[in-house]
Amino acid sequence: MRESGNLGSKQPENSRRHPTHTGWRHTTNIRPRAMRVADAKAPDGRAVKLSCRHVWKVFGAGGRAYPPDPGDSSAASVDAMRQSGVIPAVVDASFDVHAGEIFVIMGLSGSGKSTLIRCLSRLIEPSAGQVMLDGQDLLAASRSDLVALRRRTMGMVFQSFGLLPHLTVLENVGFPLRMHGNARAKWEARAREMIAQVGLEGREFAYPSQLSGGQQQRVGIARSLAADPELWFLDEPFSALDPLIRRQMQDEFLRLQKMLHKTIVFITHDIAEAFRLADRVAIMRAGRIVQIGRPAEIVLTPADDYVARFVEDTPVLRVIRAADLAEPASGPLPDAEVEADAVLEQVLPRFFDGTAALRIRGEARTLRASRVFDLIRRMPSADAAMAAL
Ligand SMILES: Nc1ncnc2c1ncn2[C@@H]1O[C@H](COP(=O)(O)OP(=O)(O)OP(=O)(O)O)[C@@H](O)[C@H]1O
Ligand SMILES: [Mg+2]
Repeated sequence: MRESGNLGSKQPENSRRHPTHTGWRHTTNIRPRAMRVADAKAPDGRAVKLSCRHVWKVFGAGGRAYPPDPGDSSAASVDAMRQSGVIPAVVDASFDVHAGEIFVIMGLSGSGKSTLIRCLSRLIEPSAGQVMLDGQDLLAASRSDLVALRRRTMGMVFQSFGLLPHLTVLENVGFPLRMHGNARAKWEARAREMIAQVGLEGREFAYPSQLSGGQQQRVGIARSLAADPELWFLDEPFSALDPLIRRQMQDEFLRLQKMLHKTIVFITHDIAEAFRLADRVAIMRAGRIVQIGRPAEIVLTPADDYVARFVEDTPVLRVIRAADLAEPASGPLPDAEVEADAVLEQVLPRFFDGTAALRIRGEARTLRASRVFDLIRRMPSADAAMAAL
């Protein structure tokens, strides 16, 4: 697996090379040694909230010990497992999720995304590996601790909405708080607050069957946020929605995240959705994570042909920002400025009058027109992107 740019995980080198492979093997009682990941910091100074180390999930193993050697994730070894009739759904997955980021896991159907996200909360018991939440080993948590931890710190949204049909919107959203033993006045007030946040005010007493797909998913989102989780897991929450509603929901999701600053793991099989929402993306193929990086890093330096094929369909001009292509200024800085966050689609018209370079606002870096035009010439999807301008 390749970590793009300098945003790679910060785990100690020895843990990356020589994993402690005793975690979560059903066949052993040995507990993994605690790993010091809690103090790990992302390059932007944010703490690592969730750390996934060498996680495997092999379905169909019955009582047999799979993977036979978690240290061996070679193609030959994984193929041999498949030949023997088991399904290696997640193969040696390692990554860190930073506090407050949107970490998107993207891959085709069957690539192992749902299995991996369920392993992160132990809804599925991994076959091997470790998951650390705030430096705490989730394996060491007892069943009841785990249930409490999930309630207190984790919110989940699934593709299939999962609403209770005989409860109203208000009751559905308040349901987790009711389950935690909150009094009616308390759960109802909180549920109304969340319903307002997702724009469903006035529909409190509707039943799920009386709502559109987008509205139902809003209820799912409000419900998952009712207990104010620190970690928010979303498994293809918008896949069932038509493209227009889907885009609206993405906008609202980003707006909510601006207010709430959750740590998010978001699953999708749609690369455009991944690039639109993600701070960083992990791309999965046949159970493996093949690349992790910021959207622009993945577009500019895809790890292999598989990733490159995804990128071909990406509106690159909407993904790459001025800062992604900026270089340290070699001469005097130009007067004309551009925001670091402006995407190329916004920047391009500035070069149409012959401007050679723009200064990145507040920085001693410039964005050269020739660099942007070179990139566009190299990108297979650039023609379509230009046509869309
Ligand atoms: N309970 C199970 N028992 C056996 N095999 C399973 C089980 N759950 C998933 N699998 C297999 O594991 C692989 C990964 O499945 P998973 O549901 O994680 O994929 P996914 O990436 O979420 O796909 P999709 O985009 O279709 O939701 C598939 O080959 C699937 O058939
Ligand atoms: Mg899935």
